Amino acid sequence: MKPAHVAIIMDGNGRWAGARGLPRSAGHRAGVEALRNTVRAAGEMGIPWLTVYAFSSENWSRPKSEISDLMGLLKLFIRRDLAELHQNGVRVRIVGNRAGLAPDIEALLVEAETLTAQNRSMNLVIAFNYGARDEIARAARRLARDVAQGKLNPEDINPESFAGYLDTAGIPDPDLIIRTSGEQRLSNFLLWQAAYSEFVFVPCNWPDFSRADLAAAIEAFAARDRRFGGVDTREAVS
Ligand code: IPE
Ligand code: IPE
Ligand code: MG
Repeated sequence: MKPAHVAIIMDGNGRWAGARGLPRSAGHRAGVEALRNTVRAAGEMGIPWLTVYAFSSENWSRPKSEISDLMGLLKLFIRRDLAELHQNGVRVRIVGNRAGLAPDIEALLVEAETLTAQNRSMNLVIAFNYGARDEIARAARRLARDVAQGKLNPEDINPESFAGYLDTAGIPDPDLIIRTSGEQRLSNFLLWQAAYSEFVFVPCNWPDFSRADLAAAIEAFAARDRRFGGVDTREAVS
């Protein structure tokens, strides 16, 4: 089976640049090119949902100059690529904490979501200023408010209703999570949503991630036996 939702932890831009004697900013620029190619490839492969981890809530701990490079690249990506994404029927959604973002960035995120809201060919979810613990804590805060205002009965809190308070409300859980650069950890990405995701760790750094790497990850996914706590699907039919 093909995954309906692929999520990618785009890691290794800095190491890619370091290996070439280039500044980290050059790695991030090359990373944007890899993102562009991956969105196109996923669309052509008929993957309806693609989520990419672009900036984590912990990435603010990086040097100021690197943060400003990353913010600049996000703005450039939306300004340059939004028209093409829209033309190709891609709906853009952003998950992560919106509070405290620079007003020009906030405006671009809203523009990307509003312009593409009616598109149905493919969904691109950008995790920006995203951290799963922060997302879950914000969801709990909103849920607590609803309980305090009598809009929600505590007895009605269950995994399904809770998920409706997350930034990812309405987005299916990722079937496949890919992380590049050889690191094998989630780094605070989609902790709730990844409960039954399959993982593929790819050794190459993100700027080197190719269409063939995506195809190989999807092929590896197809060979997995997802049980969701039950028994082997082949056993179950016999
Ligand atoms: C991923 O590459 C991009 C972001 C986290 C924004 P890194 O910048 O983490 O690159 P490495 O991991 O230092 O090589
Ligand atoms: C995860 O990568 C965040 C993004 C890809 C945006 P990091 O490079 O920040 O993660 P750690 O620090 O290696 O865990
Ligand atoms: Mg990294």
